[in-house]
Amino acid sequence: MTDTYESPALLRQYLDFHYRSGETSYLPHHELPEGLTEYPQRCGEVTIEYSNRYQRALDLGCAVGGSSFTLATAFDEVVGIDFSDSFIDAATQLASTGTFRSSEVVYTPSSDHRKCRPHFRKGNACALPQDLGCFDAILMSNLLCRLPDPTACLEGLKALTQPGSILVFTTPCSWDEAFTPREKWLWPTLEGLHQTLDPWCETCDVFDIPFVLKDHDRRAQFTVAQASVWEVKA
Ligand SMILES: C[S@@+](CC[C@H](N)C(=O)[O-])C[C@H]1O[C@@H](n2cnc3c(N)ncnc32)[C@H](O)[C@@H]1O
Repeated sequence: MTDTYESPALLRQYLDFHYRSGETSYLPHHELPEGLTEYPQRCGEVTIEYSNRYQRALDLGCAVGGSSFTLATAFDEVVGIDFSDSFIDAATQLASTGTFRSSEVVYTPSSDHRKCRPHFRKGNACALPQDLGCFDAILMSNLLCRLPDPTACLEGLKALTQPGSILVFTTPCSWDEAFTPREKWLWPTLEGLHQTLDPWCETCDVFDIPFVLKDHDRRAQFTVAQASVWEVKA
């Protein structure tokens, strides 16, 4: 396991991505086409839209928690898990105080009415804690192709769900040996997901979610993530 997600620059990049991408100052030199900002919030909204029950949601690989705060507008309880200490510390502070300050910038989750305060904890998606309980919805946005063993992670989700639970995966399908040994890649991604999930889940939908992630004020990555939604079989 690497500490790729621990640098101050990455923390700042994800705080901006999760809490400021809807502002004109996000990419100040050019207006973005519509529909590319607030990706974490849109992933949370997709999860809410497809869910059948609204008691407990898990945001796995939550980073600094943008999707978790959106899930909290619909679910009674939201748990965010990430491997990065600095991301979890920032998300925890956002949840407990409502703000997080980095240099001169103050980050605040949207003021939408929330049913709960999400709680955040450090964890490894490939070896999940045993005490998590059962969830009505699990979101994994842009996590699959950053894992050393995505199949182990998917298999681990079985113990966290029940019939009718919803799984939402969004992924840029950017498999890279820096994160995942080639023999563990789910490639093509959707086929890999089917191979692992078909025995216990049904596909509900597959669609694209475009987004822009800023590197700095004059450069950004444009990505079209593939989203797939699955329901745990009876
Ligand atoms: C590409 S970012 C995506 C973050 C967020 N879901 C989003 O869509 O903006 C991947 C996240 O997964 C986390 N991560 C990487 N490996 C992990 C693992 N084994 N278990 C839990 N989280 C992990 C990283 O710390 C990072 O926050």
